[in-house]
Amino acid sequence: MTEHVKTEITNGILTLTLQRPEKKNALTGAMYDALSDALRKAEADASVRVVLIQGDGDSFTAGNDLADFASQARGEVPVDSPAHRFIETISKAGKPLVAAVQGNAVGVGTTILLHCDLVYLADNARLITPFVNLALVPEAASSWLLPLRIGHARAYAMFALGEPMEASAALACGLANAVVPQAELRKRALDAATTLTKRPAGALGQTKKLMRDHQRIAAQIAEESQLFKERLKTPEAREAFAAFAERRPPDFSKVG
Ligand code: COA
Repeated sequence: MTEHVKTEITNGILTLTLQRPEKKNALTGAMYDALSDALRKAEADASVRVVLIQGDGDSFTAGNDLADFASQARGEVPVDSPAHRFIETISKAGKPLVAAVQGNAVGVGTTILLHCDLVYLADNARLITPFVNLALVPEAASSWLLPLRIGHARAYAMFALGEPMEASAALACGLANAVVPQAELRKRALDAATTLTKRPAGALGQTKKLMRDHQRIAAQIAEESQLFKERLKTPEAREAFAAFAERRPPDFSKVG
């Protein structure tokens, strides 16, 4: 248990619960590190057969902590390393990943779903990837995986217009397995995870490996993260983070 991430192993399921509801589970460096460490340990721990990811409060996660992005943009802390390590780790996970998502899933909150094997959404879930409005580029191989899954037009509208995707639409275009009332979300995801614990782990592992092009994903992550790090330092990005902190819309007309 780290401050804002609870980790718990029960009946073969490692449950990772984001616990920073007052900030909509926005992810800090320490939270990314806690998630990466837990995922890495799970890979080496034969008693863990499935990983379940969920968040407390009304939002799955508001994505990367924007105050952290702002200090990275000002050069006060190194750019993005815990986030990058987490993205690399989750994208390489060999064990099945199940996600339970309610409310807003912003940025990495949506892009990690592309690395999960089963995704359950509460009926109030909204997937949002506002990278361009933050003057950033998509991450976690989502620039390849999202258009692959839902087509270029819909993916572009999510990235560039920041158009949220509601739960029912996400289900219809194959981003999720089911939409359930919020009160049933955790049970539904846990039931699926429990079923997976009873499947032969070797066959599960090989099936996942066959279904994911890990080499292509790693190459996309490397290309994205180079651009992402450069973009974080741009005047555009500084304006976007300042606008969020000052609760005003960004004005990109004067920054180039
Ligand atoms: N980083 C840091 N703090 C965040 C945050 C983030 N990504 N998202 C929300 N918060 C904080 C808010 O600053 C606010 O803190 P305060 O109470 O100390 O002022 C608190 O969480 C509640 O957020 P609020 O915006 O009031 O909630 P909301 O329900 O009106 O809106 C969101 C929820 C998620 C839609 C909205 O907070 C949002 O757009 N957040 C930014 C998401 C984002 O761009 N993430 C980066 C993606 S790459």
